[in-house]
Amino acid sequence: MMEPAQGMLRDGALDGKTIVITGGGTGLGRSMAGAFLRLGAKVCITSRKLDVLKATAAELEKATGGTVLPVACDVRKWQDVDRLLEEVLTAFGHVDGLVNDAAGNFISPTERLSPKAFETIIGIVLMGTVNCTLAFGKHWIAKGERDRTVLNITTTYAWTGSGYVVPSACAKAGVLALTRSLAVEWAKYGIRTNAIAPGPFPTKGAWQRLLPGEMVERFDMAKRVPLGRVGMHHELTDLASYLISPYSGYINGEVVTIDGGEWLKGAGQFNMLEMVEPAMWDTIERMVRGTKA
Ligand code: HXC
Ligand code: NAP
Repeated sequence: MMEPAQGMLRDGALDGKTIVITGGGTGLGRSMAGAFLRLGAKVCITSRKLDVLKATAAELEKATGGTVLPVACDVRKWQDVDRLLEEVLTAFGHVDGLVNDAAGNFISPTERLSPKAFETIIGIVLMGTVNCTLAFGKHWIAKGERDRTVLNITTTYAWTGSGYVVPSACAKAGVLALTRSLAVEWAKYGIRTNAIAPGPFPTKGAWQRLLPGEMVERFDMAKRVPLGRVGMHHELTDLASYLISPYSGYINGEVVTIDGGEWLKGAGQFNMLEMVEPAMWDTIERMVRGTKA
């Protein structure tokens, strides 16, 4: 499949908007930043590594002609998050959208994990999302600013669970609960809360930690997906652009899965029949019909 020459939304769809993306220096966060900039938004990208953020900001500004503010912030520390909000307000005066994309993850049998390992992943994914949502939400509520949006990046094992990434599964499930809870509680303040649950989208950060070394060939993620391929970043950034924009103004508390059908394939009891050779189906049908006699 070819990447379309243009994004889904029309030019200027995010004009006048300021959007903060945690984890915006790399991977999907970086791709979302590029898409929002092309639609006219000003963007703040944040993570722990200021050098990475600055390089990304310079590249995105050059590519799009937009404005990117790089701010170092460890989302586990609420003091950092408060400072992030202050810096964004100083630079842009207001903030319209928050994308909670920052995450930490690695594969490991759960019995090998220390409490600190759990704490680290839950700290980044769940508490990081809580810290940012709380700081930005309180600010919007106190100022009476409406038409604000929180977009959380979760994953499909938030509701199925998954072995070998258990801290991440626990944390992402918490993010999903936060999404649905605040969608109702904060709707009265004009704050919408939604989430995206991506399937496999190749990024250096995820692939190095989830499919290290030869595992990438041994466990080809594309084979798990009914559509037979991994996701393309523009497919996710179009969805994120829509959900962060006023065009999705009546969508609240939704988690949109974008995984080519991956999780349902794992869930459906007879989906393993995909392995049956097409030529076998005549014989199988005769056998099944034959049970009548
Ligand atoms: C067992 C491990 C471990 C491993 C770390 N730990 N790696 N335990 N196996 N492979 C333990 C450490 O020993 C330590 O516990 C604790 O975890 C904290 O580790 P640190 O290295 O001190 O943490 P830190 O420097 O904060 O780094 C966090 C990190 C790292 C998560 C471990 O990988 C990171 O910075 N990740 C950020 C980016 C990222 O993960 N991107 C992928 C997102 S992909 P002890 O007890 O020893 O002190 C994603 C996809 C979801 O979420 C779905 C895919 C389809
Ligand atoms: P990534 O490039 O590794 O992105 C994770 C980002 O989080 C990095 O920029 C990292 O930057 C930042 N981060 C980590 N710890 C942080 C902290 N304590 N404070 C602030 N920022 C922190 O991986 P990705 O694949 O693009 O993942 C992006 C999002 O998509 C994540 O929420 C992930 O769970 C989700 N997701 C991805 C996939 C996939 O297939 N790629 C599938 C499902 C869900 P620093 O290291 O500089 O802090």
